[in-house]
Amino acid sequence: MTPPLQIAPASGKLGVLLVGLGAVSTTTIAGVCAIRKGLAPPIGSLTQMGTIRLGKRTEGRAPRIKDFVPLAGLDDIVFGGWDIFEEDCYAAARTAGVLEQGQLDQVRPELEAIRPMPAVFDQRYVKRLHGPNVKKGRNKRDLAEQVVADIRAFKEKHGCDRLVMVWCGSTEVFMKEGPVHGSIASFEKGLEQSDDAIPSSMVYAYAAIREGIPFANAAPNLTADVPAMLQLAARTKAPLAGNDMKTGQTLIKTIIAPGLKARLIGVRGWYSTNILGNRDGEVLDDPESFKTKEESKKSALDYIFQPHLYPELYKDLCHVVRINYYPPRGDNKEGWDNIDIVGWLGYPMQLKINFLCRDSILAAPIVLDSALFLDLAKRAGMSGIQEWLSFYFKAPMHAPEVYPEHDLFIQLMKLKNTLRYMQGEELITHLGREYYD
Ligand SMILES: NC(=O)c1ccc[n+]([C@@H]2O[C@H](COP(=O)([O-])OP(=O)(O)OC[C@H]3O[C@@H](n4cnc5c(N)ncnc54)[C@H](O)[C@@H]3O)[C@@H](O)[C@H]2O)c1
Repeated sequence: MTPPLQIAPASGKLGVLLVGLGAVSTTTIAGVCAIRKGLAPPIGSLTQMGTIRLGKRTEGRAPRIKDFVPLAGLDDIVFGGWDIFEEDCYAAARTAGVLEQGQLDQVRPELEAIRPMPAVFDQRYVKRLHGPNVKKGRNKRDLAEQVVADIRAFKEKHGCDRLVMVWCGSTEVFMKEGPVHGSIASFEKGLEQSDDAIPSSMVYAYAAIREGIPFANAAPNLTADVPAMLQLAARTKAPLAGNDMKTGQTLIKTIIAPGLKARLIGVRGWYSTNILGNRDGEVLDDPESFKTKEESKKSALDYIFQPHLYPELYKDLCHVVRINYYPPRGDNKEGWDNIDIVGWLGYPMQLKINFLCRDSILAAPIVLDSALFLDLAKRAGMSGIQEWLSFYFKAPMHAPEVYPEHDLFIQLMKLKNTLRYMQGEELITHLGREYYD
């Protein structure tokens, strides 16, 4: 057993800064306000409802996670954020149309008090959107300094002890890592020159990380996952997590696929299609934003099935992902999966999944948990990529020399073992010899 880490207490207020006050953010904020008032349960949140087994199964020790590690309490969270639209959080939540009017009205004053700060936005990166609440600056460096000033002013105004930033903005167009992202110096030069390879999301991430603030990317765009940001995070001791929250279809995929693989059931094809009618769906209707999402959604199966180790079962898997913008459904997404599987002696079978989900209802607990766990990581002195938070993401950040872990159950084990490690508890290997020796 290793000694527990020195973790600073979660005293004072935690400012949670959300970039983009759309469906996900407003559902998170309204949800936390309702939960604080005892009006609704925090279903889906590991930090609020999860337990953790400690020691042997015979010991019967299974405290709540929030009683085991020192997390910020919900009453100590203050929300803020940026958006290209000027409407306050109550109006934005109504536009998003996720939560019922009656429920929003129960927390209306808290939501109305949150007004978005002007955004760093350039339509070249999110083609379908156009809004008035946008900063002007000489170059991207100037815009980054304005975000830093916003962050500091927010901290001061609300008397926050600590801050966390989560990108919950729209999915930006597909981008690849380039020379400007290679080092802090080249990135800062790129900011100065307003380099096209620096999308708006990177301007926010740079500002947060430079301030030593933990940063999570809830969307699939290339943001903090480049060498310049990792170097900066190492310098400022900022923890990082992302990318793209694992909610509807991909969540189910990473639950089903490890099961098929565990039983060595072959898979010839996996066809996934979705209809979605919210603003996210509208943005993803643009092929360039969809490409970003598609890349993120498709990677999970390759890593779970390991076709290089099991060529007879998974080598030629045909994986297709489609998202269709269909306004009548709003935030209530419907996903269909057809999985062509193969059993004993090569006999084909099919598995069909029809998931009628609510995207932001699945996403909100992830935003909350990532913010609370990143704040914990910061207080525990853990900086850079927090691989133990892979549990929450479709395209988890990982060290360059290892492949990302997508299996939800391995991810959960990793997360809980990290919490045990932080508190100096024995890691659980599930070997269990001691019960039979
Ligand atoms: N809901 C889910 O289940 C889920 C899952 C995984 C990832 N995501 C991702 O999370 C993000 C948010 O999803 P959503 O459903 O809330 O979308 P949304 O369209 O309702 O909200 C996004 C908000 O971001 C704002 N925005 C865009 N660019 C901005 C910028 N540069 N600065 C400030 N604000 C900006 C938009 O104006 C909009 O209000 C999307 O990228 C989506 O792909 C969502």
